[in-house]
Amino acid sequence: MSLPPAAKIAFGGDYNPEQWPPAVWAQDYQLFEAARIDTVTLGVFDWALIQPAEDVYDFALLDQIVQRATDEGRSICLATATGAHPAWLARAYPDVTRTDFEGRKHRYGQRHNACPSSPAFRRLSRELARRIAERYAANPAVIAWHIGNEYGGACYCELCAAGFRDWLRKQYTSLEALNAAWYTTFWSHTFAEWDEIEPPSALTEHWRGPDHTAFQGITLDYLRFMSDAMLTNFLDEKAAIRESSPEVPVTTNFMGMYRQIDYHRWAPHLDFVSWDNYPPDDTSQPRMAFTHDLMRGLKDGQPFWLMEQTPSCTACRDINPLKRPGVMRLWSWQSVAHGADSVLFFQLRASRGACEKYHGAVIGHAGRADTRVFREVAELGAELDRLGGATLGARTAARVAMLFDWDSWWALEISDGPSRLVRYQQVVLAYYTALWQAGVDVDVVPVTADLSRYDVVLAPALHMIKGDLPQRLEGVAARGGSVVTTFLSGRVDENDNAFLADVPGPLGPLMGVRVDEWDAREPQFVNPVWLSAGTGHQIEVESRLLFELVIPQGAEVVGSYQADFYAGTPAVTRNRFGSGHGWYVAAGLDQQGVSWVLRQVLAAHDIDLRYPDVPDLETTLRVAPDGTRLLFLLNHRDQPVEVAAIAPGTDLLSGTRIQRGQQITLAPRGVIILHLNADP
Ligand code: GLA
Ligand code: ZN
Repeated sequence: MSLPPAAKIAFGGDYNPEQWPPAVWAQDYQLFEAARIDTVTLGVFDWALIQPAEDVYDFALLDQIVQRATDEGRSICLATATGAHPAWLARAYPDVTRTDFEGRKHRYGQRHNACPSSPAFRRLSRELARRIAERYAANPAVIAWHIGNEYGGACYCELCAAGFRDWLRKQYTSLEALNAAWYTTFWSHTFAEWDEIEPPSALTEHWRGPDHTAFQGITLDYLRFMSDAMLTNFLDEKAAIRESSPEVPVTTNFMGMYRQIDYHRWAPHLDFVSWDNYPPDDTSQPRMAFTHDLMRGLKDGQPFWLMEQTPSCTACRDINPLKRPGVMRLWSWQSVAHGADSVLFFQLRASRGACEKYHGAVIGHAGRADTRVFREVAELGAELDRLGGATLGARTAARVAMLFDWDSWWALEISDGPSRLVRYQQVVLAYYTALWQAGVDVDVVPVTADLSRYDVVLAPALHMIKGDLPQRLEGVAARGGSVVTTFLSGRVDENDNAFLADVPGPLGPLMGVRVDEWDAREPQFVNPVWLSAGTGHQIEVESRLLFELVIPQGAEVVGSYQADFYAGTPAVTRNRFGSGHGWYVAAGLDQQGVSWVLRQVLAAHDIDLRYPDVPDLETTLRVAPDGTRLLFLLNHRDQPVEVAAIAPGTDLLSGTRIQRGQQITLAPRGVIILHLNADP
């Protein structure tokens, strides 16, 4: 089972008509009609409405809401309503509320806050999902199930402690194995009984917050356990849905690069991936592109749903800027360019009260159609209608893969030393941005992915090495590919214990280097690095934060430090391995340096760069199920940009036919989707 069946990109979003009187619904649907909104996500926060008391289920209002959407011809993504639990539940079953990292037992309030180990929460959430599915499964308008909402956070209660011990017993079988994995001889921590094990929190192993732990092993396992515990909640509800709805696909809305949950562990259990795109600022284009690619990579390249984005602004930040004219449209097409089969908003109509009353919505409090936001949404709706199904199910045929790994992310950021300033996302994004600027398609994949289809594999800051990954990376190079890795890679095994070997551990043979020492400095300290391709052409870039001192073991030197006692020693190396190469970047190069290295790598593989020298012009290529190739061009500037067409085709948005080499102008924040001619 995969995505819901569709004839076009699903367009619409979260709709909460239970918050206003039915008289307003008529106006809502008139406006949906005008904006060509065809899909509504219903009931995300309806638990208290549907079950006002433990033994009372009341579907009267939800029935009306679902019926109305059905009568109006809308497709429904129906939620299981468990994203926020009712007050009576917390009162009747105090174990439902979480205990936080500081050990404070929470009382009723907010949302997304049930203890995942609470038997009452598990029983009643499952029962609610079961009843909702049973009631609406036969309605053909229901095309997807939306379980919970934005799973996340953590709990440190006694039930979770017990759950953690069970999880550990399954994982390790014996305390000997656990003690070895956690390296408990250090600081006299050897556990003799399972019950001695406490969740790692501010009261136990941590100081200065969740990243500062005395024992990385226990903290890492707690992160894994919590991710699995919440997955169990999702699976409870999924199983309950399946009792009456075997065919309708289920999803839950992910949050992109969200550290707390290992989406690679979750993805196999979703029929399709969906996610909520709320970028931190409006200069996040490569970051958004990366996150879309990460989400697409969760299910081996299968398209995903963009479940939420704001049409205009958020409300939860200190400062909530507006999306400028054209930005909502541009970012919607960016999602499609990277694999989205839907464009959905939070929210279709604004709440009157509570913390999201100023959150952007397609329809504001006044219910007008003559607003800028509504007009832009309606124009996009018309455009999506005209496009029809051309992009549905299309795949990205990337030759470059980038590894992304939650374990490595966690291990790197909970490590004491060498530098708290090295952040996984920043390193990964620097490498991704270089590819984004070069106009190259990238698959962002788990470390377990099949790498045999890629010419280039990037593994930035791959701190933890698991399983047979070193052999598979060697396989890429052996057959002529290139593997690129960086400082702080290959440091620890799956338990976060150092390899008893030279750094970069099992990546050493492929990289042809050994790291003898490493230096970490304040952010203002710069060590210049000279990079040279061996053609005499040399550039100077900057490196910061982390500097590994490398002794080549066969690798040639591509870049070297220019300052300090290690001036003249290697900062970037390339090692011949089989018919390919292993590249090692030993320092935190600036963006120019990272881009220079990756351009060398791409050049060795004749990978087409699309508009590599036109800043902020993004391109992707998707291949539809019938083989049609669709080239997306996205101008992220608020100025027009003129370029020569790199291939002939027809722009699906304007209908214009374009010859190869023809000058084309992209309007400010403009988009072109070139349906490439079959014979280029
Ligand atoms: C999240 C939630 C929504 C809403 C939006 C606001 O994505 O899923 O319920 O709170 O944020 O941005
Ligand atoms: Zn708990």
